[in-house]
Amino acid sequence: MNYENILVATDNKITTITINRPTKLNALNKATIHELHEAFKNAESDENVNVILLTGSGEKAFVAGADISEFAHFSVEEGAQLSAQGQELLFDFVENLKTPVIAAINGFALGGGLELAMSCHFRVASENAKMGLPEVSLGVIPGYGGTQRLPQLIGKGKAMELIMTAGMLNAEEALDWKLVNHVVSSAELIPFCTEIATKILRNSPIAISKAIKSINANFKDGVNGFETEIKNFGKSFGTEDFKEGTTAFLEKRKPVFTGK
Ligand code: COA
Repeated sequence: MNYENILVATDNKITTITINRPTKLNALNKATIHELHEAFKNAESDENVNVILLTGSGEKAFVAGADISEFAHFSVEEGAQLSAQGQELLFDFVENLKTPVIAAINGFALGGGLELAMSCHFRVASENAKMGLPEVSLGVIPGYGGTQRLPQLIGKGKAMELIMTAGMLNAEEALDWKLVNHVVSSAELIPFCTEIATKILRNSPIAISKAIKSINANFKDGVNGFETEIKNFGKSFGTEDFKEGTTAFLEKRKPVFTGK
């Protein structure tokens, strides 16, 4: 598939999706959101893809936010629609993917950029990364899940402060605030994420997808996470991967998982 705003490459069951609008600091316009939706959907349905890395092109930005030039003239209704559509197509979509998604934050992750990184299952930042939700400085609020996912990740008080001040965290601060799991040099960012992805690849893809679902259930309104865990734990026993994993352990060999 040909994309204009993103690059997609797959190697050894790891797909790397790179947002590729470096002259606009990879800002998320409508077309990019649609292309990202397609790329994530295709990667998830591809049996040869078991981990997805998401990053930005260039040395300056992961994503510097939603494309301000596209919504500067929007009405109340258009604003609400922008938020709803974006959440459905990309942000909620990524969070609920069966395939693990790692955000490799290689520079600015601001506004919609940080919201996108927070939709990923976890985050690794390069030393030059800067993160924040500066929307109130533009007279709006975060609209791609930022008011929900930021407090989930760093706690309510810190989220209130970061959003109200429209402040920016550097990579070390983001690590300290538990917004990212690791900080590495720019050169090490993709190799380091690939190393984590390779560890994930050793494990059962179907068990991982059930774990993602169960962990996400902790944060969904009206869903009992413990019930979700019980259901998915039970379902695991009906998978080929469970038979393979337990058999391989008892036979003292490495398992060969098929994801079935
Ligand atoms: N939407 C649209 N365009 C954006 C953008 C965004 N969110 N962020 C950056 N750009 C564009 C700039 O307009 C500029 O385009 P131009 O060269 O055609 O004028 C280009 O990307 C480079 O950005 P510039 O501001 O010149 O880079 P900088 O190094 O001086 O500053 C930032 C970097 C990230 C501090 C600054 O670009 C910025 O504040 N961006 C907006 C961040 C934001 O508020 N995001 C939340 C949006 S809801």
